Amino acid sequence: FQPKVLAGKRVLITAGPTFEAMDPIRGITNHSSGKMGFAIARAAREAGADVTLVAGPVALATPRGVARVDVQSARQMLDATLAETPRADVFVATAAVADWRPANTSDEKIKKDGSGAAPTVRFTENPDILLTVAQGERARKGALFCVGFAAESHDLVAHAQAKRARKGIPLLVGNIGPLTFGLDDNQLLLVDEHGVRELPRASKLVLARTLVAEIARRMFADSRT
Ligand code: C5P
Repeated sequence: FQPKVLAGKRVLITAGPTFEAMDPIRGITNHSSGKMGFAIARAAREAGADVTLVAGPVALATPRGVARVDVQSARQMLDATLAETPRADVFVATAAVADWRPANTSDEKIKKDGSGAAPTVRFTENPDILLTVAQGERARKGALFCVGFAAESHDLVAHAQAKRARKGIPLLVGNIGPLTFGLDDNQLLLVDEHGVRELPRASKLVLARTLVAEIARRMFADSRT
């Protein structure tokens, strides 16, 4: 039994990787199964929230009662997110957004020319969805509660604290290594203004329920001050 700690709240979640096309056949992407974000969507729904999931290309079923918008690229994910943020109370950015996309895309498949030469791909930076949302929210003095994630290969605590500060968000969740792509369980670190707290290793769904409870506690604590 899950208490309805988010009853009446609207929760927006990004999940999965983005795919950045080079041509109609190829592109670059990030490792991400989307499982953590989908688990948070399910847990938020169980907690009574109205949930929208903006999903990159993943092979996962939509949790019951959750609205889903499928996207491919970071720019599509940004547009779909910005279309929903005005109505949202909570934004959880779990997506593994590609930091860069090919600067030029070809409408036709790029062909080998037989010379053995390989094409050179130039990249351009993608928008930072979480940063865009958090900055916009601060500018309009809004109450959207933003949560970010961090997956790092080293120095997780330092990177997670720096990321929380750089994005200007109240809560940053670190994935404690080894990286858990595709697995059903995970270990998380919560970084907030009070410091760092480790959650015990558990399934992504159990962690998602804990995270939803932590978000609700912080939102209601914030609104009392
Ligand atoms: O800066 P970094 O990518 O490490 O931060 C990770 C956090 O920022 C995650 O919550 C991720 O979903 C979000 N992010 C984003 N758009 C990007 C890059 C990261 O929303 N382009």
